[in-house]
Formats: sequence, structure tokens, C-alpha cells
Amino acid sequence: LYLDQADQSQRQQWLSELTADYTTLQQEGLNLDLTRGKPSSEQLALSDALDGLLQGNFIASDGTDTRNYGGIDGLPEGKQLGADILGVDADSVLVGGNASLTLMFHAVMVGLQYGFDGDGNAWNQQGNTKFLCPVPGYDRHFTVCEKFGIEMVTVPMTATGPDMDAVENAVQQDPNIKGIWCVPKYSNPIGVTYSDDTVARMAKLANLAGAGFRIFWDNAYAVHDLVSQPKPLADIAALCRLYNTEDSVIQFASTSKITHAGAGVSFLSASSKNLQAIKSFLSAVTIGPDKVNQLRHRRLLPDRAAVEQHMQKHAAIIKPRFDVVLQCLEEAFGDSDLGRWERPEGGYFISFDARPGCAKEIIRLAAEAGVKLTPAGATFPYRNDPEDKNIRIAPTVPSIEQLEKAMEVFVICVKLASVKQAM
Ligand SMILES: Cc1ncc(COP(=O)(O)O)c(C=O)c1O
Repeated sequence: LYLDQADQSQRQQWLSELTADYTTLQQEGLNLDLTRGKPSSEQLALSDALDGLLQGNFIASDGTDTRNYGGIDGLPEGKQLGADILGVDADSVLVGGNASLTLMFHAVMVGLQYGFDGDGNAWNQQGNTKFLCPVPGYDRHFTVCEKFGIEMVTVPMTATGPDMDAVENAVQQDPNIKGIWCVPKYSNPIGVTYSDDTVARMAKLANLAGAGFRIFWDNAYAVHDLVSQPKPLADIAALCRLYNTEDSVIQFASTSKITHAGAGVSFLSASSKNLQAIKSFLSAVTIGPDKVNQLRHRRLLPDRAAVEQHMQKHAAIIKPRFDVVLQCLEEAFGDSDLGRWERPEGGYFISFDARPGCAKEIIRLAAEAGVKLTPAGATFPYRNDPEDKNIRIAPTVPSIEQLEKAMEVFVICVKLASVKQAM
């Protein structure tokens, strides 16, 4: 279907055919959901050995009794697990509770309220704090900014990561830009891994930016490959050491999509200066995180090889689901002007860009035919997709059969909304 090349009578014909197809689907009374970016129960079950794994042995390698209070930055076991996942030194790791989002929220709070560089350097003492937000992006990053009243400035994502010309220009022109959100591997939602050039330019950013600038390097999908030879992500910490910008990056990860999403372990990796600022803050928040969980996670995943083997089991479950979605998109829109998408080699999402102005209508039509999609705009700050075109598809939870049906509906809705708009 090439809408731009069709004449009015052709479009009219498509409209009546698609309306008939849509009405037929609507009568099936479906109830399907493509919104949930979470592991399926099959995936969760891969880590059920966590239950009872310690068998009464609660003592960590350094002698810590993990049942007790304390250990604000984590056990050696927890740090090493974080180091294996993020590819960093265990010394640079702080281990948190079950959500890396909490660590991100707290890290932003430290920058804003107290400053990473000591007294008098808090962002909120320097004017109106702004963050760069590559779009489309992860909605909860934007919610963190919104909660703190941080102004969000969007920059476009490309197939190699954020548009680095736009990023460099923005930080050079505005010293009140104090942060940028990055999901460097299988970025949520478009699924691209930042190129080596993008990572190198990120590592140099602090040399162009205002005081106290920090990169929030949310490597949530660090080990979540769907292919056997994944494109490697350059080591930002090593590059920062090279460019003398070590303090400018704070990395995050968790086991949420490795073990049990609601009962995992989170990690932060940063320079000693940043760690000190964050630890000082966290000491007021908690006497220490859940060390029992850290210990049993390390016993389940004793080294990097074990993590990789475990992730291959995840891939075996979810790759066929990604393939269904990608194949449906390819068959329906490969030869058309109705949409674009990336083919992610990992992560949790497939992001579809419809023709501008169509996303809300596609999502409405799908809902009325019993297929729930993530609300339009969710991947943009303030829930405002200025071109109304991005739709995030989460294929991990539905079964293959459910996905096939849901995609059949999706395809009809995209076509119908596009043709209606072009009339
Ligand atoms: C990019 C990104 N970061 C963080 C999270 C949440 O991580 P956690 O469960 O560790 O809070 C998600 C979950 O979807 C995500 O997509």
C-alpha cells in the first residue's frame, strides 16, 4: 500500500475493504494486551531456584551475616554480580533494592538537592534544571523529571543512538542542562544499541556541558540479547577515564528482567566521588538494602558465563515472539509508506512509527477491537508525541497465538487509520 501514490478512488476502495475487515475483527470480541513490558511467567520460572537456595547459609564471603542490618553499598557478592552485568569494576558498584528506578530517582535527587560535587553545587542552586531526553524514550525517566519539576528538552533518537550533534549543541548552549537519560543497549523503546562513536561523544560531553552535568546511563538491557553475536556496547567508563570525565557518568542496571522482576537486585556504578555523595544520601534513606537477596542472586548466577547462559534461556522464550511481530510488520508494511520500525536484537520492545498524526487513532481503533496498546505519547516527555506517530509494542507476555491475532488487528488498524487520514 503506497498511500501517497494512490488516487482518491483507490483510497475509497481501500477504505471500504478495510472497514469491512475491521468490523469482522471487532465482532470476534478479543481481549489482548501488547502494553506489558515485563517478563512472561515462563521467563520468571527460569529463576525459581532462588526460592530456598541459601538453605540456611546466610553468611557472605566477607563474613557478613546477611540477615542483619547494614551494608549500605552492598555485599562483595552483589557488587560482583553488578560488575559482571555492567562490565565495570566491582569497586565502582553500589547495590540497591529491587528497582534500579529507585536508584535513578535517588541519584537525580542527590544532584538536584545536594550536588555531587559537595556543598553549594546542587543543581537547584544554579537556576532552572533541565535534562535532555532522547525520544522516543522510557516513560518512567520522564516521570522522574516531572516529579522533580526538571524541564525536559527532547533530542531525536537515530539508528546509532541520540542525535549527538543536537546533544552537543544543546549542552554547549545551555549550562542549565544538568543531565541526559540514556538507555545505551536495546534502548527502550526503539531497540538500538549506541554506536562506538556515540558512546565516545557521550564520554566527552562533560567537557562541553555546564558544571555538575551527569549522564544517567540506564543499561537496563545490558545482557538481554536475542542474537548469538550481539553488537558490543563500547565501555563508557573506560572512555571517560581517557577523557578525564569520570565523574560525569552514573550507570544503572538490575536483575528485574533477568530473575524475578519484582524481587530482583539493582546496581549503580559510578566514580568514587559520586558514590560518596550517593552513599551519604542513602544512609539517611535506609540502614541497608536486602543482602539476603543479593547473596541468593549471586549463588544463582555465580559468574558472567552463568548470566549469559541464563539469558540465552530467556532469548529462547521471547525471540519467537519478537519474530512474530517483526514478520507481521514486514509482510504488511515492508512495501508501503505506512510505517517504519527497527529490528531490535535484544531488549523488550519493538517501536513502530506510523504516518504522522495516526498513532492516537490506531490505538483507539485497536482498543475498540479488543487489543490494548500503550497510550499514544507515552514514549515522550509530558506524554506528548508532537508528531503523534510512535507506538510501543511489547511482545514478551502474550503467547505466540495471541500475538499473531493481536498483530492482525494492529495491521488493519494502521491501514485503516492511515487511509482515513489521507481521504
Ligand atoms: C530502560 C529501563 N530502565 C529501567 C527499567 C526498570 O528497571 P527496574 O525494574 O530495575 O526498576 C525498565 C523497565 O522496563 C526499563 O525499560
